[in-house]
Amino acid sequence: MRVAVLVSGGGSNLEAILQAKEAGELPGIDVVLVISSRLDAFALQRAERHQVPTAVIERRAYESEETYQKALLDALMQAHVDIVCLAGYLRKLGPDVIAKYRGRILNIHPALLPKFGGPGMYGQHVHTAVLAAGEKESGCSVHVVDEEFDHGPILAQRRVPVRPGDTPETLAERVLVEEHKLYPKTLREFCEKL
Ligand code: GRF
Repeated sequence: MRVAVLVSGGGSNLEAILQAKEAGELPGIDVVLVISSRLDAFALQRAERHQVPTAVIERRAYESEETYQKALLDALMQAHVDIVCLAGYLRKLGPDVIAKYRGRILNIHPALLPKFGGPGMYGQHVHTAVLAAGEKESGCSVHVVDEEFDHGPILAQRRVPVRPGDTPETLAERVLVEEHKLYPKTLREFCEKL
């Protein structure tokens, strides 16, 4: 299975996947490409450190959303990618990419979907909303991507308690620890079933 990981930021989930691979925990899975929507994403440095090829495909370099999405799809096809993992990727995939890779695009979300997902629910916004709602627990979800934000079938989740005095930052940190366990494991199980 040839996997591309799409990133926009720090890339700690990318790191977790690459470390799992190097530890022999992802047999038959190769991360063949990391695509970043931002030139300054730290995730790119992580990819380079693990000697994974990278591409930067920034929206502003393209005239229209369509040409941007086409560049993305071309990069995936040229690398013969089978599975796409979104890992902190902050742009929406266009209909052509989703159609071409239907059922083969995964995303990790830092909450227990279907709660606290959808447009605007990313990064600290998610944890702020969880705390504001007075939730007793939160967690993370890996799901299959469809045309709607954070919407496709949920493959797996891990839970964490919300503790008294939590801030969005402390909660994010606790959830992230679980994300790093959940994403490689779910990717492995997903590929085994294909
Ligand atoms: C994670 O919390 C993930 O759930 C969300 O974006 C964040 C990415 O973090 N989709 P990182 O770039 O993997 O460190």
